[in-house]
Amino acid sequence: MTDASRTQRVRAAVGAVTDPELRRPLSELGMLREIAVRGAVAHVGIALTIVGCPAATRIERDVREAAASVVGVEEVEVTVGVMTPAERAWLTERLRGGRAPRTMPFGPDSLTRVIAVTSGKGGVGKSTVTANLAVALAERGLAVGLVDADVHGFSIPGLLGLVDADGLPPQPTRIDDLMLPPVAYGVKTISIGMFLRRGDANGPLGAVAWRGPMLHRTVQQFLTDVHFGDLDVLLLDMPPGTGDVAISVGQLLPHAEVVVVTTPQAAASDVAVRSGLVARQTGQRVIGVIENMAALVLPDGSTLDLFGSGGGADVAAALSRDGEDVALLASIPLSASLRADGDAGTPVVIAHPDDPAAVAVLALAERLAGPRGLSGRSLPLRPA
Ligand SMILES: Nc1ncnc2c1ncn2[C@@H]1O[C@H](COP(=O)(O)OP(=O)(O)O)[C@@H](O)[C@H]1O
Ligand SMILES: [Mg+2]
Repeated sequence: MTDASRTQRVRAAVGAVTDPELRRPLSELGMLREIAVRGAVAHVGIALTIVGCPAATRIERDVREAAASVVGVEEVEVTVGVMTPAERAWLTERLRGGRAPRTMPFGPDSLTRVIAVTSGKGGVGKSTVTANLAVALAERGLAVGLVDADVHGFSIPGLLGLVDADGLPPQPTRIDDLMLPPVAYGVKTISIGMFLRRGDANGPLGAVAWRGPMLHRTVQQFLTDVHFGDLDVLLLDMPPGTGDVAISVGQLLPHAEVVVVTTPQAAASDVAVRSGLVARQTGQRVIGVIENMAALVLPDGSTLDLFGSGGGADVAAALSRDGEDVALLASIPLSASLRADGDAGTPVVIAHPDDPAAVAVLALAERLAGPRGLSGRSLPLRPA
């Protein structure tokens, strides 16, 4: 083989390496620079998006391995550079796929199904259910994004194990004004928790004491500046109740579908119904109710119904109206595994898929992603 044909092979092999954050081959991302094979030595130049790119080590290793896999190459020299501003501008433009900067890709024309998960009050398990549902949908091969819109009470990073060695959520990589969402269990995730650092006025994992306009801007930024790419489903973990964020999301995503989470307790259902009604006022469609913390069957066969029963069906009935049937989509039992796995950052649907709560969430995912979905239209299914 000549140097020229080996060079061609090295170029093809290196070009096929995928960027772990952008999830596309380097050749498509404009990250290849000069590549030449002289004798048994391959010289490979690559350009990273930013200085100190967190994926740098992995990319360099993968590039080295890819070049070394070409027959006749015995030594690989990798030169790592950084893109020029013009190269980065080309890349961000490409990643946006023609969409103008700072526009929202999840408008009414989008193929992405947007589902906001809401609840009347906190502590009903909304975030735990949302995180598990997102992972279950991703496991089914769907491209899933998750926006933690509970700015004051964010908990999604912890539930998905998105914490670094310091116990802090990882900071998203930025390419100019595009942010790359960290990925956990196949779910592209963004949360305010990823932006709070040690030394911040808000503390490392401190409170976010923002009012309406700041909250609105944050949610808007999550929807416009985060590079989710083509998604089948975008889930939003909403804050409990009917506050500023719920109104902002209603304005930003009036076509979103809404799922209401409630416990079986009668006292919880009134506020749950209210959160569904407020979502409906902004034009969103309430597609169903999830009952969580339902009765648990104990090993001796007896039943523990800590929060009573029937709340989910009650909320679904209260939200149903002429021509719009709101279904009880799932009843998820109390589960020690669900709780413990959430605390450990390994969702129960992955860690203990046979647990009854996991089984209920997996069935919910099947129902939502199924051939006819809930709205009678199918989700555009793409290979993972
Ligand atoms: N089905 C369940 N069984 C047992 N514990 C649960 C269940 N669902 C949620 N939890 C626990 O309840 C607490 C509140 O859940 P969380 O998802 O944070 O609620 P929310 O987002 O509605 O405030 C967490 O400690 C969680 O582990
Ligand atoms: Mg929560």
